[in-house]
Amino acid sequence: MGKYVIAGNWKMNKLPSETYDYVKEVIEATKGAECEVVCCTPYVCLSEAVRAAEGSHVKIGAENLHFEDKGAFTGEVSADMLVDLGVKYVIMGHSERREYNNETDETVNLKAKKALEKGLVPIVCCGESLEQREAGITMDWIAIQIKKAFAGICACDAKKAVIAYEPIWAIGTGKTATDEQAEEVCAGIRALLVDLYDEETAKAITIQYGGSMNAKNAAGLLAKPNIDGGLIGGASLVAADFAVITSAAK
Ligand code: 13P
Repeated sequence: MGKYVIAGNWKMNKLPSETYDYVKEVIEATKGAECEVVCCTPYVCLSEAVRAAEGSHVKIGAENLHFEDKGAFTGEVSADMLVDLGVKYVIMGHSERREYNNETDETVNLKAKKALEKGLVPIVCCGESLEQREAGITMDWIAIQIKKAFAGICACDAKKAVIAYEPIWAIGTGKTATDEQAEEVCAGIRALLVDLYDEETAKAITIQYGGSMNAKNAAGLLAKPNIDGGLIGGASLVAADFAVITSAAK
C-alpha cells in the first residue's frame, strides 16, 4: 500500500525558541524509523524546525497554507513561502480548521491543487462527527469530502498525496477508533480511490489514521492493511512517545 508516513501535528503548541532542540530530540529518538517521519509545526516554528532537520531523515510540514500565490491576504502564508523555507508537507482540511477557520471542501481542494503544483505533499484530512457515525453515514460523508478534495486532480498528482482519516470524536479525546473501525473507513477510502482513479493510484496514496493515536495503540492500528501511517497530535509533543509510534510503522 502507500508509503508509511508518521506525521506529528503540533497544533498550537511549542514555542519557536523550543523548536530547534525538540526537533533534534525527535531526530535522535526516531533514528531507526523505517517510515517517513514528519513534524508539522506552527508557521512561526518552521524556520527553526527546518534548520534543525537539515541533513536528517525528518521532514518538516506546515499546518495550513493559502491557496493563492500572493497578494493582499493579511495574515496568510503561501505555498511559495513554505517551499522557500524548505518545508515539504502541508496539512489541510483539519477538522479544527473546518470548525474555527471556515475551511471548506472547496478551500481544501484549492489548497491541495496549489500544494501539488508547488511540490508540497498535501496531507488532506477528512473525518466524521459522532452524530454522523451514530446516524450510519460515516462513509457517505467521507466520500463527499474526498471527492471534493480531489476534484480536478489527476492520478499522477493524487499519487503524491497523503489522506488522513481523523474521526472528529477521537481527536484529543483519548477515545481512539478501534483498529477495526479505523481499518473499515481507511479501506473504504481506498476503494473510493480505485473508483475515482485506478488500482495503482489507490495503492500509492498513503492513508493515515489520526485521533488519539499514541504509543500504546499505534501498533494495532498500523498493523491494519489499509492504514499506512498516522497523524499524531498530543503524542507528537513527547519525542519518546512519538518514536514508539514511528517504530511501529513498518
Ligand atoms: P490527537 O492525537 O491529540 O488526538 O490529535 C489528532 C489530530 O488531530 C492530528 O491532526
